[in-house]
Amino acid sequence: GKALVVAIDGPSGSGKSSVSKETARRLHASYLDTGAMYRAVTWYCVNTGVDLADAAAVEQACKDVDLQISTNPDDEFVRIGSTDITDEIREPSISASVSAVATTLGARAELVRRQQQIIADSGRRIVAEGRDITTVVAPDAEVRLLLTASEEARLRRRGLQLGGTQSDADLHEQVLARDAKDSTVVNFSEAADGVFTVDSSDLDFEQTVEAVLAVVRHAA
Ligand code: C5P
Repeated sequence: GKALVVAIDGPSGSGKSSVSKETARRLHASYLDTGAMYRAVTWYCVNTGVDLADAAAVEQACKDVDLQISTNPDDEFVRIGSTDITDEIREPSISASVSAVATTLGARAELVRRQQQIIADSGRRIVAEGRDITTVVAPDAEVRLLLTASEEARLRRRGLQLGGTQSDADLHEQVLARDAKDSTVVNFSEAADGVFTVDSSDLDFEQTVEAVLAVVRHAA
């Protein structure tokens, strides 16, 4: 089919992953969760004794790692070599350390390169989501969109996602503190030139998907 790269950025708890995945299904496109790649490298460093504070070592780990990520929205997996780490990368301990990888510029350069390769391999029919997709990974995407939500909505959603057992302090760490750290290297709090904004604060899941698809129809 015709090239259709849909680039979606946004903060944690904006509903980005589930909305992007469903958008990919409806468009019969591939799906790339770039956050899962940062999480996978973090898992690899933690499990092979790479010091996350050592930028050169983290960059080298990014280059060395045998990382495979599914781009099928109906069959998600992340593997390091033959080890399936799909569930483990969602652990709070990984969420708490992932910014160390994300703020290592050499690591970003390597992951951006891999992400651009995955987009090319999809035949440029893909919904790719993260923090720097509209600006760095795929600034040439047919559709570029920032998915935002109020702080309150994001905290509530992440709390539900995690089973509602987190303390307010844990949730704050998982959502707001992580975004604050990530913001030091990528700007996903405002839309770059030519990037559409969808604010999902007052939308349910289906309404958010519809709003994203409306932007796709308008822009593509
Ligand atoms: O989207 P998710 O919350 O799974 O992303 C995990 C982490 O990966 C983010 O907190 C951020 O540090 C990093 N990330 C990034 N750039 C992207 C996607 C994710 O820096 N494009």
